Amino acid sequence: MRKAFWTVFIFLILLIAAIGWFHRGALWAYVVVLPLFALGVYDTIQKRHIILRNFPLLGYFRYGFEFISPEIQQYFIERSTDGRPFSRQQRSLVYQRAKNVMDTVPFGTQLDINAANYEGIRHTIYPKEKPAEAPRVKFGGAYCKKPYMASLLNVSAMSFGALSDRAVMALNLGAKKGGFYHNTGEGGLSDHHLKYGGDLVWQIGTGYFGCRTKEGNFDAKLFQEKVAAHPQVKMIELKISQGAKPGHGGVLPAVKNTPEIARIRHLEPHTTVISPPGHTAFHDAKSLLEFIGKLRDLSGGLPVGFKLCIGRTEEFTEICEQMVKTGMRPDFITVDGAEGGTGASPLEFTDSVGMPIEPALMFVRRTLERYGLHGEIKVIASGKVLTAASLMKMLALGADTCNSARGFLFSLGCIQALRCNTNKCPTGITTHDRSLVRGLVVSDKCERVYNFHKNTLHTFMELLAACGLDKVEDIRMSDFMRGDEFVQLANRYFPDGLGAVMNVSPGASA
Ligand SMILES: Cc1cc2nc3c(=O)[nH]c(=O)nc-3n(C[C@H](O)[C@H](O)[C@H](O)COP(=O)(O)O)c2cc1C
Ligand code: SF4
Repeated sequence: MRKAFWTVFIFLILLIAAIGWFHRGALWAYVVVLPLFALGVYDTIQKRHIILRNFPLLGYFRYGFEFISPEIQQYFIERSTDGRPFSRQQRSLVYQRAKNVMDTVPFGTQLDINAANYEGIRHTIYPKEKPAEAPRVKFGGAYCKKPYMASLLNVSAMSFGALSDRAVMALNLGAKKGGFYHNTGEGGLSDHHLKYGGDLVWQIGTGYFGCRTKEGNFDAKLFQEKVAAHPQVKMIELKISQGAKPGHGGVLPAVKNTPEIARIRHLEPHTTVISPPGHTAFHDAKSLLEFIGKLRDLSGGLPVGFKLCIGRTEEFTEICEQMVKTGMRPDFITVDGAEGGTGASPLEFTDSVGMPIEPALMFVRRTLERYGLHGEIKVIASGKVLTAASLMKMLALGADTCNSARGFLFSLGCIQALRCNTNKCPTGITTHDRSLVRGLVVSDKCERVYNFHKNTLHTFMELLAACGLDKVEDIRMSDFMRGDEFVQLANRYFPDGLGAVMNVSPGASA
């Protein structure tokens, strides 16, 4: 290839010289050809990129296509039920609900509803009238002095830092309009969270951002002062782990540690700051519960809970045992599934660590019940809650309420370009590049956040009515059916072979 490069360029240079002999204007072509020639020469002698070294100039096409491959996939290849982590159909549903435009689909389902993993809701022939409003759920057990009535669906933890200032403001203003809460994420309480007065859950991670000492430990006085100064903080969430990267800390590089971020997080600006994978404020089940009690006292009695992705189940059981033994309790537990999102994480952690939300939620709820703890302790679920059906499923599996992160990002206009970790988010949501952030208009996007929440809950209440249920607490797993049950039914009722005729024998559709 290098030979071809030299040949073509030498030929071009000679050709231009020959034409230039007769028409001097042709010599302008050197303005284009010579820089390209210089770039090609550089490609062949540089040592970092094999492709460019072996295919000078042409190699750039590969990098270009690689860069736009998510767009090619999304615009030209993807079908409406394809697309990961969320299909085009799921994304479109959020866009439609957020824009308050028609959210119906024509002609019928596009899903393979005979597949073994299909999940459907069992409706009744005696549906109820749809209640006017979705109920709210009380957070705050016996030790809590300021209980909070939460919506069934709320904004999951995402920090200012991972999100742009305008994205944070739009989420908070939307939450205020819709009467639901907005979790700050572990990056501290920023001015952008506080500006519009929407309800906040202040999340505290292993970096204790916003309430940390110079050494990076928890600063009780700072925490107490901040909570007292901001009555819109309604609950405190201690983040133990997150589904997309359980057990992984974080690094705030010096370049991203701007004076603004440093002020919000209580850091030295322009220094690299490491969030360790674990907490320094506690080291076992008992000290975790003690720390939760301390946060509750310091906050004047707000509901305090912890967020985790389940890994070793025996560790969670041990926390429950300690609750029973000591009488200490959190007010809520947020269960995050391994399918959860993140701004940035190593692939091994997103793909291979932690339990998915469905088994994790069943396990947490059943364990709390086994120890007589559920009721006083509320369970929040997060992990791809996007539609009213997924919300209903989580409640059936044991959640009292749900959080959504990426659902609300779609409502802001996220197009799933998958560049959150590059500071080049084209929609201004996960970038701090002002030329991109300027596209996100808070007054418009807050309406979309509000509409998405309102319309999703509206459809949820319609589903509840279609099942003949009066109350959210009445939802059971038996209100759902799975495709593999149809296979069993076919084999039971038609043992002589309808399964074979329909090609639904066990395993055929898996
Ligand atoms: C951009 C982004 C930033 C996030 N930051 C945090 C965070 O600071 N703390 C946290 O506990 N979870 C964080 N998460 C995880 C979400 O709060 C949530 O638990 C997870 O994405 C699952 O919800 P989803 O499937 O609705 O996105 C983040 C997720 C995203 C997409
Ligand atoms: S549009 Fe922005 S927030 Fe959405 S996936 Fe792409 S980079 Fe991330």
